[in-house]
Amino acid sequence: MTDWNPHPEGSGAGCRIVDLPRVTDPRGNLTFIEGGSQIPFDVARVYYLYDVPGGESRGGHAHQNLQQLIIAAAGSFDVIVDDGTETSRFHLNRSYYGLLLPRLTWRELGNFSTGSVCLVLASLPYSEDDYYRDYGDFLAGRRAAEEAAR
Ligand code: TYD
Repeated sequence: MTDWNPHPEGSGAGCRIVDLPRVTDPRGNLTFIEGGSQIPFDVARVYYLYDVPGGESRGGHAHQNLQQLIIAAAGSFDVIVDDGTETSRFHLNRSYYGLLLPRLTWRELGNFSTGSVCLVLASLPYSEDDYYRDYGDFLAGRRAAEEAAR
């Protein structure tokens, strides 16, 4: 039988899809996320993107320390992730899948469907100092972190 609801690509560029719990109910389904359980961090911040015009893109940066879980709470969009060596594209279109991004991951979001909502759970409060907004700076930061880990 055709699987009309295929599991998205599981992992790539250090990122992976997290299959979130689903409490299905004829009155409407429910998904929950607990820090330290489904995701390897405590949630310090939640933000969401909405009213994104068709054809727009978001992201285009990386974070020094922030970890995030990205969910298509409504509609669909693509997330392209880059760990400095490998890139991977994830199409998110179900509210019970999350894409886990470790620190030092360059990301671009695009191909938003009309009415989509991109929900993000973040491990740290907002800090502009945590951003790499320049791709070259991100690569240098990534290499430095890899050197330090050796
Ligand atoms: P940014 O992370 O650059 O958005 P995107 O990657 O989706 O394009 O954030 C856009 C603006 O919003 C930026 O000027 C900072 C502000 N902002 C906050 O004040 N708090 C937050 O938690 C976030 C995520 C952004």
